[in-house]
Amino acid sequence: MRKVITPASSVSGTITLPGDKSISHRYALIGSIAEGATRISNYSTGADCHSTLGCVRALGIDVEGIGTEFVIHGRGLDGLRQAAGDLDAGNSGSTIRMISGILAAQPFTSRLIGDESLSRRPMQRIMLPLTQMGASIRAREDKFPPLEITGAVLHPIDYVLPVPSAQVKTCVLLAGLYAAGRTVVTEPVRSRDHTEIALREFGADLTVERRTITLTGRPKLTARELAVPADLSSAAFFIVAALLVPGSELTIRGVGLNPTRSALLDFLVGMGGNIRIPELESHNGELVGDIVVRHSELRGGTIDGALAAALIDEIPVLAVLGAATEQGLVVKDAGELRIKETDRIRTVVENLRRAGIEAEELPDGMAISGRQRFHAAEFDSHGDHRIAMAFAVGALAGDGPSVIEGAEAASVSFPEFWNTLSSSLA
Ligand code: S3P
Repeated sequence: MRKVITPASSVSGTITLPGDKSISHRYALIGSIAEGATRISNYSTGADCHSTLGCVRALGIDVEGIGTEFVIHGRGLDGLRQAAGDLDAGNSGSTIRMISGILAAQPFTSRLIGDESLSRRPMQRIMLPLTQMGASIRAREDKFPPLEITGAVLHPIDYVLPVPSAQVKTCVLLAGLYAAGRTVVTEPVRSRDHTEIALREFGADLTVERRTITLTGRPKLTARELAVPADLSSAAFFIVAALLVPGSELTIRGVGLNPTRSALLDFLVGMGGNIRIPELESHNGELVGDIVVRHSELRGGTIDGALAAALIDEIPVLAVLGAATEQGLVVKDAGELRIKETDRIRTVVENLRRAGIEAEELPDGMAISGRQRFHAAEFDSHGDHRIAMAFAVGALAGDGPSVIEGAEAASVSFPEFWNTLSSSLA
């Protein structure tokens, strides 16, 4: 699908966005192995979170509901049944990596498949700890999906994550639920902690001390009523759009502002962004608030170290913004970008160049000089949702109509993106 984006004279009004992708996956998975009916409202409409629902259904979980309201009839830690066929994770790295932690402990074999992009993404990062815990896993070329997981009675491990990845941390913690004793996970940098918060909500015994999480296995998990906040990573596209386009003032309602995700806002405010959060509330242990953002002239900056890990999903749209700042943007220590839905260092730099923007590809990041005009062009999502949306945002500041090729990719996390975008444009 091709979308034509014409330059905007402002991005304004009040918008609501779909539920957080990361939190939705976790509520669906943990709800499935809790006891009783977990009610989830504002569940993500993205295809990725529906892949997770499809997988738990195939494992014998009754999921009722449509749209954004679901009831997951959890059957307890030992209630899953062997699926009749393959479990399809679609495009979703979160689905395949997180559910593997649960499948590693089942008394049956499961086969997990994904689309072409997912089939090229590395899985050793989960195979290694799950094998250490006792599961048997076979993979294409020993590292890529399809994965064939034969479950076992798992033993707990003390695992130091070699990569900064909340998906891997979650996988080990979910496996740790099944291992009698204490599973300990230490992260190189603190990553999003939705799993830790959700597990506590469901009744698990879990403590966090700095970068180390300790979980006691075989807890009784009890069904909950849960509301998913709007996705800050989806909000990022609109925050950047409003900062970028002169005359903009936008309010985004009920956004998840978990401190392990909200470095985005601190980074933008630090560059001079006019962003306010009038009030903060806590829902199911997650911070939630409205975000009010106004057009701002930004200084530019550097994303590296722990910040690179914290902003990993937002870097494509921040790169687009970087070109419009005074000093530009440098991204380092973000080699993980190369193994996302696309190699996002390559796909971002390639599309920036299409807009006439000077950008340099670095082994673990990119360098974009500032004060550059975004020229109208044809952009290619390469099937990556965040690339499609990032360049649609850039095109709002273009000097004529631009085209986004492969615009349908947005539906992986944000099917309403194109409608929400047109409703906020003047
Ligand atoms: C996610 C973790 C991140 C992120 C992904 C969602 C999660 O991936 O990029 O979109 O929900 O845990 P990694 O764990 O690979 O860094």
